[in-house]
Amino acid sequence: LTDSTRLALERALGGFVGEILARSMVALSLSWSHVDLDDLGPGDDKRLSAALLKGIRVYVNDVAQQRACVREVEFILLCAARDHLRSAACEELAADPEQPDAADEEAPVTIPIRTEDDVVLARSSGRDLCRTMGFSSSAQVKLATAISELARNIVQYAGEGSIRILRLNGIHAGVEIEASDEGPGILDPELVMSTQYRSRTGMGIGLKGARRLADEFWLDSAPGSGTRVVLRKYLD
Ligand SMILES: Nc1ncnc2c1ncn2[C@@H]1O[C@H](COP(=O)(O)OP(=O)(O)OP(=O)(O)O)[C@@H](O)[C@H]1O
Ligand SMILES: [Mg+2]
Repeated sequence: LTDSTRLALERALGGFVGEILARSMVALSLSWSHVDLDDLGPGDDKRLSAALLKGIRVYVNDVAQQRACVREVEFILLCAARDHLRSAACEELAADPEQPDAADEEAPVTIPIRTEDDVVLARSSGRDLCRTMGFSSSAQVKLATAISELARNIVQYAGEGSIRILRLNGIHAGVEIEASDEGPGILDPELVMSTQYRSRTGMGIGLKGARRLADEFWLDSAPGSGTRVVLRKYLD
């Protein structure tokens, strides 16, 4: 949540408004929202994104560009929040190893992915779970489509991997999908999620589409470390 988040924000905004303006937008947003990136408290990420959005509305005139810019900024802040939560959760578990598993999650289903048949199976399993949980048919299709994109990428780029489908109960009921593989990884994850990305192997819209279809989306990938995508869709 420290310098790397600040740099990622500056780089993403720099693509839209130029480097110098991007740097001052991030600095100004931090002071407007009284957020210290080194010490984020509850709600700080929302205050920071609200302040950044104000800047985007002022400085990025073109509406389509504004939307793309907002999406990139939101993605970076989501990743940062996710990392923050993950390390806090790890610390909690280490402090109290006896702690039972969260009662509001059920055992996940994991589907190994190697072939197009596995893609179809993962897709229909996700859709079946959504149907059982009472998701609308359009939400079922959205989740199933996102699963297909992630599973196809595993077949196409990693050769093999898995899709894990988890039912989230609790207050925020929904479905979590985790696609993971130990393939070659993605050289520049930020680039593939940006509007600038041009794919040599496809249309280059699979991951961006999956992000759009989900309520939350995280991509974790680096060359040599495989790829992990987690997305969530909540019941309204
Ligand atoms: N699991 C993965 N392992 C390695 N590289 C991946 C993986 N998933 C995606 N990529 C890389 O990320 C890029 C973007 O993926 P994305 O699914 O968005 O587009 P695409 O597969 O190129 O085209 P399409 O629109 O047909 O899906 C791919 O071109 C590929 O280079
Ligand atoms: Mg793809």
